[in-house]
Amino acid sequence: MEDRVLSTHAMAEEQGLEGTLRPQQLGEYIGQDRMKESLRVCIDAALGRGEALDHAIFYGPPGLGKTTIAHIIAKEMGGTIRSTSGLVLTHAGDLAAILSNLQPRDVLFIDEIHRLPPAAEEALYPAMEDYQIDLVIGQGPSLRTMKLDLPPFTLIGATTRAGALTSPLRERFGLVYRLDFYQPEELQIIISRSAELLNVKIDEDAALEIARRARGTPRIANRLIKRVRDFAEVKAQGHVTQAIAQEALQWLQVDEAGFDELDRKILLTIIEKFRGGPVGIEALAAAIQEEKSTLEDVHEPYLLQSGYLDRTARGRQITQKTLQHFGKSSDLFSINI
Ligand SMILES: Nc1ncnc2c1ncn2[C@@H]1O[C@H](COP(=O)(O)OP(=O)(O)O)[C@@H](O)[C@H]1O
Ligand SMILES: [Mg+2]
Repeated sequence: MEDRVLSTHAMAEEQGLEGTLRPQQLGEYIGQDRMKESLRVCIDAALGRGEALDHAIFYGPPGLGKTTIAHIIAKEMGGTIRSTSGLVLTHAGDLAAILSNLQPRDVLFIDEIHRLPPAAEEALYPAMEDYQIDLVIGQGPSLRTMKLDLPPFTLIGATTRAGALTSPLRERFGLVYRLDFYQPEELQIIISRSAELLNVKIDEDAALEIARRARGTPRIANRLIKRVRDFAEVKAQGHVTQAIAQEALQWLQVDEAGFDELDRKILLTIIEKFRGGPVGIEALAAAIQEEKSTLEDVHEPYLLQSGYLDRTARGRQITQKTLQHFGKSSDLFSINI
């Protein structure tokens, strides 16, 4: 159960929920202030000139609001968003079909853009740079290529791996934004807003209690409020007080740090199998049977930022805070942490 509750990935049953809770305008998008201020200026300038917004890329761990901001941009620009993913665009022809159907100021959103196959990526270059694509028509001796003009559009890419983008692709984005984990106070606002939309009565301190355990991630915050609501409906006529929130979170087995199962596995493996570290990322990935990139892009960022993991020249190691969290004594460890 805890894996489901704390997973940062969207679950199928959640697609509808994400639709209802997803902010529709820049003003409703909580946090990421620097990004928002920059976007506000760029959007207003583009609208003022009657042009499309520059191509933009958003990177950061799952659940922090990349898809949401892409939808908001399309709306602010007065265009429609066409969504696809680097995983499904396996043929350059698929991309050409999508591109040739764009209207002026539309947003083409490519999720997991680092997964684009090279042929599709190369087809994007002239589209991004000159609003043109090369179409291949016919077969055999009658084969020819034709240039097709595209309307001014904005490409928005999202990725968990900024480092995995090729430099020719990265260089074609005028706007590059990294999303940060959210502060508890920001998640508290998101939770209060979601509770209102879900018709749940929640006290401020209860919202903060949930926010503290949401792993810095709006997607998790929204999932928790939904589960806590179920609990409160059964146990407290639907009113979420701090005490009810605490009880519900305990029932959901959400720990104080908001760790999910893999977070715990990473830290406990370093403690138990590698004497607290330092351990190289390859050895750690092998020990927990996860892909190195999943560790680095999805799990490590939160652990590093919240002070439960240290990255040193010799590898990853746990901290005093980690030992305290798991109730372990530092006497057992050879390293000096
Ligand atoms: N800044 C924000 N303010 C309010 N809610 C947010 C914000 N960012 C994300 N959310 C909520 O979290 C959910 C997940 O965000 P999403 O954009 O799908 O994340 P990502 O694409 O980065 O994985 C959204 O449905 C939305 O309800
Ligand atoms: Mg997304």
